[in-house]
Amino acid sequence: MNQTRTWLITGATSGIGRELTLQALENGESVAALARDTSSLRELTHAHTDRLLLLPTDVREEQAVEEAVKSTLARFGRIDVVANNAGYGLFGAVEEASDAQARAVFDTNVFGALNVLRATLPVLRAQRSGHVLQGSSVYGQSAHPGVGLLAATKYAVEGLTDALAAEVAPLGIKVTLIQPGMTATPFLANLDVAAGLDDYDPTVRQVHQAIGEMPASAFSDAARIAEGIRGAVDSPNPPLRLALGASSAAALRPALEARLADLEAWLHVTEAVDRR
Ligand SMILES: NC(=O)c1ccc[n+]([C@@H]2O[C@H](COP(=O)([O-])OP(=O)(O)OC[C@H]3O[C@@H](n4cnc5c(N)ncnc54)[C@H](OP(=O)(O)O)[C@@H]3O)[C@@H](O)[C@H]2O)c1
Repeated sequence: MNQTRTWLITGATSGIGRELTLQALENGESVAALARDTSSLRELTHAHTDRLLLLPTDVREEQAVEEAVKSTLARFGRIDVVANNAGYGLFGAVEEASDAQARAVFDTNVFGALNVLRATLPVLRAQRSGHVLQGSSVYGQSAHPGVGLLAATKYAVEGLTDALAAEVAPLGIKVTLIQPGMTATPFLANLDVAAGLDDYDPTVRQVHQAIGEMPASAFSDAARIAEGIRGAVDSPNPPLRLALGASSAAALRPALEARLADLEAWLHVTEAVDRR
């Protein structure tokens, strides 16, 4: 199975997507690699002529994504793994992000991912097999000052994925949310940053500065993240959510415990509203 597996990877030119692409090729698998500019992968096509298909595609453009999927099928005949990985971050207080910035990050991180789902799920449904990897984050279930809009996109991906996983499981399709913590990729360099309001200096700017001053050792290695993702794809029982990196677990655990604690502490009110 591993030898012939075909991946469709968005955001394949950089960071986690690039590592997924490299590891799949090293393992004899085929890759349809999507990004707006795929030229940085061109040198790899010489070594992997038959197994690497470069598809310059903007995930925000539905028709372009559909064309990319058609090209993938024409070349490889099937799609086994869809890595819905393309995305970027927006940093700033919720109030600071402009309407245009907020809509733009949703366009890529949420509506782009939906374009990929609508184009690939008919293929996976017809096969009655496949694995969808949904690009979430530690910010898919937790947030702190400065990441509100980024977290909003990842929470959106998590919400639709909870439903999606249950919808496609009877059709033979597996779904896993990928929740990396801080990972050493160009993600921070590609960050959009909202204009600052002084009132948020002690919170948002302080966090931004702290992230900027973190040592390299605080960031997970993208190749190791890709190895973790491959482990879930290889598993007969992959998880619905896969946290990757100690920083992810360290943020997710208290966030999840706090939700349960709120639920339990206020259960008397929760239940009282039903007793009339
Ligand atoms: N790095 C982290 O700390 C971290 C932590 C948690 C979650 N994540 C998530 O992991 C995923 C990958 O992040 P990364 O760190 O690997 O980022 P990265 O190194 O900045 O790579 C982003 C990739 O997405 C592509 N991309 C961006 N906009 C696109 C669009 N509109 N259409 C098609 N491709 C597009 C980029 O290529 P082009 O610019 O050529 O299109 C690039 O290949 C993202 O969803 C991110 O939110 C990252």
